[in-house]
Amino acid sequence: MNLDTINSPVNPGHVAVIMDGNNRWATKRNIPGAEGHRAGVAALRELVRYCSELDDVHVLTAFAFSSENWSRSDEEVNAIMGLMLQALVNELPELNENGVRMHIVGDKSRLSEGLIQRIDDAEKVTRQNDKMHLVIAINYGGRWDIVNAAKKLAIDVQSGELTPTEINEEQLAGCLSLSQFPDPDLLIRTGGEHRISNFLLWQSAYSELYFSDALWPDYDRAEFDVALESYRSRQRRYGGRVE
Ligand code: FPP
Repeated sequence: MNLDTINSPVNPGHVAVIMDGNNRWATKRNIPGAEGHRAGVAALRELVRYCSELDDVHVLTAFAFSSENWSRSDEEVNAIMGLMLQALVNELPELNENGVRMHIVGDKSRLSEGLIQRIDDAEKVTRQNDKMHLVIAINYGGRWDIVNAAKKLAIDVQSGELTPTEINEEQLAGCLSLSQFPDPDLLIRTGGEHRISNFLLWQSAYSELYFSDALWPDYDRAEFDVALESYRSRQRRYGGRVE
């Protein structure tokens, strides 16, 4: 590892974000929770625009729906699913124009046919873009991701392509959802809670964590600048020692 690069004052290449606080934002305004999620989509749109203007942020990964979010009311789940479907259609032209490539990660088996179709379309239409990658995690859980990777490795062992002793971190990481990207450098959670909530468990092993009290719909460029500034001031050691 080249320690010279560890404390460099550059922006994170990969930012991951847990968008929390939509319901509280709506409750404060006495409006339905779905309106909070709608405002959340607008905040995400703005963050994607900002990141695509910043030359050094190449990947933005957003946690839109967790494996655990199914436990919310049918009404709320349907509202979020509807918003995601709508956003995948409505945002596509601008994302494409800005050179953003879309990737949706997570367990798609529980998603509706319509949503899966829009996901395929969005990934297909933006396939040639490489200015920035936008990864949306839908029905995603960090534990699910690791179990899924373990299953893939087990299949390779069963078919004789791999022996159990050959399994190492690199191979497991290669079977995870975000295997094509470097691990997130910065993981942001809004909404004032200080936990990872089963997001990128494996991939965030050495991510810098940043917690913002802002409710997600209020999260704007100024808030993001503060997180970037905090990131740039940190010394990343990856378990090593910098003299
Ligand atoms: C957390 O707020 C937010 C969610 C569970 C859903 C986030 C989804 C979106 C912003 C829509 C994403 C759309 C696209 C296209 C990616 P919360 O409801 O947990 O808020 P609370 O902590 O105030 O209850």
